[in-house]
Amino acid sequence: MKPKTAELWAKQDQHQGDRWRLFSAVADAVDADTALYPGCYVDIAPSFVFRSVTFVDIDRRTPVFFGDTAGVNQIISDHDGPAEPDVAFIHADYTGVLDLPEEHFGLLVSLYAGFVSEHCTEHLRVGGSLLVNPSHGDAAMASIDPRYELSGVVIADSGRYRVDTTDLEGYLVPKKPQAVTVAALHETGRAIGYTRSPFAYLFTRIG
Ligand SMILES: C[S@@+](CC[C@H](N)C(=O)[O-])C[C@H]1O[C@@H](n2cnc3c(N)ncnc32)[C@H](O)[C@@H]1O
Repeated sequence: MKPKTAELWAKQDQHQGDRWRLFSAVADAVDADTALYPGCYVDIAPSFVFRSVTFVDIDRRTPVFFGDTAGVNQIISDHDGPAEPDVAFIHADYTGVLDLPEEHFGLLVSLYAGFVSEHCTEHLRVGGSLLVNPSHGDAAMASIDPRYELSGVVIADSGRYRVDTTDLEGYLVPKKPQAVTVAALHETGRAIGYTRSPFAYLFTRIG
């Protein structure tokens, strides 16, 4: 593994195994073996549990990391990942056109990277899942997107993660009465304050 790859991964994984635990819990809860991760930076953790993952990021350090195929495969194998992982990386702005098939992936990942759901849902198959955290307003964006239905919440508890699919009507309830609209979310680019605060949400693409 190249020193830069090791350095970038060590920083990404400073809460050791945190994303491994997150994606393991998600993989157990969804029916997917392919994932698309726009705004991934160097978070290779989905490849520990999903057979085929396409990563997209615009940051200049990301091609250095993903270009070290042997190093990336070493990290995956150190985390009990698939023997022959299928890792693809696109160095691009995900708000533009991505050369990817429509309705293809089983999981779309949106973590701290803006309105991924708004720009990349076309690549998620109907019946597939969106993992999205509230940061940057993307969970709120998915909540008003008619293509999605809330199907679970990811609860973080002392560094462990579990997916809960019960009492979902108690989630995504704003603390203050407010209109959640695309325009308002674009304007603030911030999370809506909800009465309950899971780490992330799982939505199913229904249309
Ligand atoms: C705060 S980091 C989060 C990284 C990763 N998702 C995580 O949770 O560890 C946000 C990443 O999204 C990327 N990003 C933001 N907007 C983007 C865009 N429009 N196209 C591609 N990448 C983008 C940034 O380059 C950065 O690497």
